[in-house]
Amino acid sequence: MRWSGIHHAFIPPVSAGSLSDSQGRGDPDGPRGGRKISGLQPEADPMTSNPSTRRRVLTGITTTGTPHLGNYVGAIKPAIAASRDPAFDSFYFLADYHALVKCFEPDRIQRSTLEIAATWLALGLDTSRSVFYRQSDIPEIPELTWLLTCSTAKGLMNRSHAYKAQVAANEAAGEDPDYGINMGLFCYPVLMAADILMFNAHSVPVGKDQIQHLEMARDIAGRFNHRYGEHFVLPEAATDEFVATLPGTDGRKMSKSYDNTIPLWLPEKKLRKAIMKIKTNSQPPGEPKDPDEASVYSVYAAFASETQRAGMREAFAKGISWGEVKQQLFELVNSELAAPRERYDALIRDPARIERELIQGGERARAIATPLMHKLRDAVGIRPLAR
Ligand code: TRP
Repeated sequence: MRWSGIHHAFIPPVSAGSLSDSQGRGDPDGPRGGRKISGLQPEADPMTSNPSTRRRVLTGITTTGTPHLGNYVGAIKPAIAASRDPAFDSFYFLADYHALVKCFEPDRIQRSTLEIAATWLALGLDTSRSVFYRQSDIPEIPELTWLLTCSTAKGLMNRSHAYKAQVAANEAAGEDPDYGINMGLFCYPVLMAADILMFNAHSVPVGKDQIQHLEMARDIAGRFNHRYGEHFVLPEAATDEFVATLPGTDGRKMSKSYDNTIPLWLPEKKLRKAIMKIKTNSQPPGEPKDPDEASVYSVYAAFASETQRAGMREAFAKGISWGEVKQQLFELVNSELAAPRERYDALIRDPARIERELIQGGERARAIATPLMHKLRDAVGIRPLAR
């Protein structure tokens, strides 16, 4: 799965230090000691104020939508599993500043933030073992964004796929090339780089569509390091072939932009209905079917154990009906989601509890961000005039 790419055999033994005590043990030689930081070497590095020997894994979720099965299988479930792995320090955050780039409905942003936070908590994210926070609670992130913006070539941003796609769409529609493009969209990769570099993350689990953003983050980090000293780890994308492509109800990748998603927290009856709507071909019951050509099987496989998968493949060979496959798929998905769904519903009714979790997570994140930001300000020449 996605996370397998980020295991490294040489991870040293787990240190006892908690994430939040990582401040204030900076490098006595200052940031220009010329020490090399490698994205692959997780040794305690004084320059990153990281006394931990664990690798840092970080990812953000844009708060514009409602979580769906594709998010769950592709990102949330593996992330929560990784947060229990003592080899990592994990940082998960709600990217609400990123949401502002494309969503201009304030209530929707708030609602999405609530739903996504409730989702991660309901699914068992242990917030004492990971840092779970809201991007906008960390003022150092926009501050770092500006420092990085000044070390980012405009030409690099011109090459962004997301930006170019928008320009191309405008040109195809006979519009001005800049139509509907705000500076947030253009500078999106810099904000994302700040998210990652702020915590010197080694590994960033993302979908394949985000790989370019990780390359840009490395580029930006490299340029900053070259100018001002080795402050940043060069992060790496961790992607996975399989999970990135859970099909939606129409067979294409499950994605909000295709309007083919199955929301994660549908009540049981509606979940069943949604699963029954997944597209199949017209092969009748009794006729052998090819599981590798069937979206229903791909979704099934994402939830099933190996034994269950083997059993289902056999049933396909024997000509199981589409209705029966879907019924079994529903039962499988529902059995996994029933208990968390109850927790989710309870959490949604108690937003104050979620708010408390996020505030606490934000404090722990700032225990890392604030001292690093002090060093970075100093490094670029924003310094007190007298000590
Ligand atoms: N751009 C990411 C997405 O759309 C979300 C995101 C924002 C992110 N900041 C990040 C992901 C930092 C990883 C790391 O999926």
